[in-house]
Parts: sequence; C-alpha cells; structure tokens
Amino acid sequence: MPISVLDELYAGKAKTLYRTDDSDLLLMRFRNDTSAFDGEKIEQLERKGMVNNKFNAHIMQVLQAAGVETHFVSLESDYDSVVRSMEMIPVECVVRNFAAGSLCRRLGTEEGIAISPPIFEFFLKNDALHDPMINDSHIISFGWASSEEIATMKATTLKCNEILTALFQDAGLLLVDYKLEFGRYQGRLILGDEFSPDGCRLWDAVTREKLDKDRFRQGLGGVVEAYEEVAKRLGISL
Ligand code: TMP
Ligand code: ASP
Repeated sequence: MPISVLDELYAGKAKTLYRTDDSDLLLMRFRNDTSAFDGEKIEQLERKGMVNNKFNAHIMQVLQAAGVETHFVSLESDYDSVVRSMEMIPVECVVRNFAAGSLCRRLGTEEGIAISPPIFEFFLKNDALHDPMINDSHIISFGWASSEEIATMKATTLKCNEILTALFQDAGLLLVDYKLEFGRYQGRLILGDEFSPDGCRLWDAVTREKLDKDRFRQGLGGVVEAYEEVAKRLGISL
C-alpha cells in the first residue's frame, strides 16, 4: 500500500524529511541541492538527488544484508525513500583509510597516504561551529550519547568500513573516508542518514581520480557524472 505523505518534519542541506500516516515511518527526499563548507556553497545539480537516493538504497541494503541494522525501509520513487523515524545522535562518525580533507589540513599529512589501522573520529554536527572534532569525553559529559552508544557507533562504523571497502574495491574504487550518523530506535542504536558520494570520498583505484563531492568542493566539474560512474561500477540502475 503506498504511503501517505504528511507535513515537513525537518529540512537539512540536501534532504528533507516528511511525516507520514505511519508514525513509525518518515519519507526522506533527496534534493538536488549540493552543499559544501557547512552550507557556504550551495548549488542545484540536476539528477543528483535521484542518483544519491538510489545509491543510498543500494548501500543500505548491502549493509543490512551483512547484519548492520539501518533506518532504511524501501525505495519509494526516484527522489524518495521510506525510513524509520529515529531520535538522532548529534555526532558524525568518520573513518579514514587514506589521508584527505580536514585530516591533511589539521595534521599536515600528505593527501593519499594509506592509513593503517583506519582512523576513527567524532565531529559535532553543528554548521555554525563548522562541525568541530570532539572525543568520547565531550559526548559523555554533554550527554549526547552514553558510553555504550559510543562503543556501538565505533564498532558499527568500523564494521561498515570492512564491508564497504571490499564492495568498492571490487568496483575498482578506493573508499578514502566517509561519515555515518546514528539514531535511537526502539531502545537500540541503528544507522541513519545516508551513504552516498556526498558524504564519502571515493577515488579510482588506478588513476586516483576523485569521484565524490570533492569535485564540487574543489570546482572540478562533472560532479553528478562522477556519482553516476560510481553507481554504474556498483551495478546500480538509475
Ligand atoms: P573531512 O575530511 O572534511 O573531515 O570529512 C571526512 C569525510 O566525512 C568526508 O568523506 C566527508 C564526510 N563528512 C561529511 O559528509 N559531512 C560532514 O559534516 C563532515 C565533517 C564530514
Ligand atoms: N556536508 C557539509 C556541508 O555542506 C560539509 C561538506 O560536505 O563540505 O556543507
């Protein structure tokens, strides 16, 4: 039975959540808005929402099949998916397999150096503060999550790294880094938000060509074309 979409619950920089006639379910709409530098640069990129919606559906299903519980329920249409309603934890979980982005700026590390074992970092989800890096101690003392929830976020994010590194490797891609967000659902912490080239870095394994949102951040052009190339290599039909 098709779901009835009610009013808007929350609009982020690239997605909007709507309430539905089922209080357990939300509609997640992937918009064409593309944002960088905490919303400083925003552009509409034709088809981007559709590509990310289908990309995310594929990845969430892969993760679920491997035993990672996620909020994803179903692909509803080109731009929409149905997800479970959760209480989000206001932190971002980042794993890095190769040096790039803010790690290089913070530590002066050369871009592209392999990182072993992978680095795990927490950031506070707060655009006005430019998502500052935080640690377990901040999360516990400010009550953003419990120590058990911290352990779950770390273990699940690293488990996703094993699953997704292998998936992308088989498609000739390096999973450089990525960001995940979690939420509380029926007393458990489960994976929320999205996994798409907007929230990760993917390089061609041979040429190291950037095939993710760094193309937008760095003004390299061909942003959606790169996302579509990655989707094609993963066998995702758009
Ligand atoms: P960073 O190098 O800017 O810290 O980002 C690391 C990875 O996490 C990169 O793939 C982008 C992703 N990310 C987001 O998608 N949104 C965010 O707000 C942050 C901090 C990181
Ligand atoms: N997602 C964040 C933003 O829009 C950070 C980034 O991807 O650069 O602004």
